[in-house]
Amino acid sequence: MTMIQSGKGFVDLFPPKSDVFTAIESTARDVFTRYGCRELRTPIIEFTELFVRGIGDETDVVQKEMYSFPDRKGRSMTLRPEATAGVLRACIQHKLLRQNEVLKFFTLGPMFRYERPQMGRQRQFHQINVEVLGASSPLVDVDMLFMLHRFLSEIGLTSLEYQLNSLGCPACRPTFQASLENHFRDANPDDLCDDCRRRMHTNPLRVLDCKVPGCKAVAQGAPVITEHNCAPCRTHFDAVIGLLGRSRLQIRLNPMLVRGLDYYQGTTFEVVSTDIGAQSSVAGGGRYDGLIRQLGGPDMPGIGFACGLERLAMLVPEQPEPGMDVFIAAQEESLLEKALEIAQVLRSRRLSVEFPYAQRSMKSQMRSANKAGARFVLMLDKAGQEQCSVQLKDMGSGEQQALSEGDVAAYLETRIAERSRTMSRPDE
Ligand code: HAM
Repeated sequence: MTMIQSGKGFVDLFPPKSDVFTAIESTARDVFTRYGCRELRTPIIEFTELFVRGIGDETDVVQKEMYSFPDRKGRSMTLRPEATAGVLRACIQHKLLRQNEVLKFFTLGPMFRYERPQMGRQRQFHQINVEVLGASSPLVDVDMLFMLHRFLSEIGLTSLEYQLNSLGCPACRPTFQASLENHFRDANPDDLCDDCRRRMHTNPLRVLDCKVPGCKAVAQGAPVITEHNCAPCRTHFDAVIGLLGRSRLQIRLNPMLVRGLDYYQGTTFEVVSTDIGAQSSVAGGGRYDGLIRQLGGPDMPGIGFACGLERLAMLVPEQPEPGMDVFIAAQEESLLEKALEIAQVLRSRRLSVEFPYAQRSMKSQMRSANKAGARFVLMLDKAGQEQCSVQLKDMGSGEQQALSEGDVAAYLETRIAERSRTMSRPDE
């Protein structure tokens, strides 16, 4: 039989890498909860129209990257390429949105984009996504950036670049788009790729986001969006910059930052690393004040961001393997059932415990204990007809001592608690 492999760009996650993912996700939950966010889980499959309407039909995501297919009734369904559209759909559908109330949600999970796989770019990847709905103050923009910065710092990522731009609003963007179109017309439109030759008329901002070298060259010297911002956009953005200026978060203004999805308005940002190759953006987001209405909801503002878990995992410092608290080794087969029984008691006291499922030599069991990173080994031996003797070995010091079976749980619980206390106070 031939072996069946996973599809290109679909990646299996094994320990220790899966442990890194779990640790990053648990820090995200912890940090976002401190900022008042709650978890929202939405379906992985949605009607295709949601993404076409939400993300924009001139974007690469909608034009080239969606996994879309008809369901059994012929309706076009799509594997979500991002979380924002689904989160807003859910809030609108379940009537969660109320004027003057702020909703804050985070969503973790897989997203799907049919892109050319390379380092840091997969077809199934994972995002940690946040959306804050119903608040238009510049304070929210800054609080979002603070939250993102806190999360990235707490997973150990301190040397990242935070970039900021303002993409204008429906009042001021058309004039900018017109002057952008003029720039492309006066430069050499024949140097643009086929997509951009069309987009320079339909959605010229997308040309600034194109990675084709010819398009990048034509985009050189293009008008700067922040210089075309209307007064309300400028006031909002100045307030954001002012608040950030008074904080310790270093931000670089990047007027060329346009993001790949069409729903953004006003403040946009991206967090970039120089250590992971071409796919350098680890997080990105911004305001999307018109999107809720565009998806059939009330006229309410929104802002959010998403981090790419694979890219974060490439950057986080290596963690020591967690290791088990206890490994139970049995001198003979008849003691395996006793090992099962003791393991249950210890686990009920929140200790992590392993024991062998088949009889092996003591040497081989000690090898397994080492491999499992066990802090203690409990060695069971026969001591008469019904009796069992218990020896406890501290794998750190090598010390060994006899215990009575009834004392094992309480004794180990104290020793392990003592050990965790000294490990969490390394400086004392
Ligand atoms: P995005 O910039 O398309 O934004 O994606 C956010 C992050 O997802 C990127 O910075 C990157 O780290 C990761 N990412 C994207 N595509 C891939 C891929 N093919 N393989 C690996 N990682 C990838 C959004 O998706 C917006 N929905 C973010 C947002 C939320 N804006 C407002 N709210």
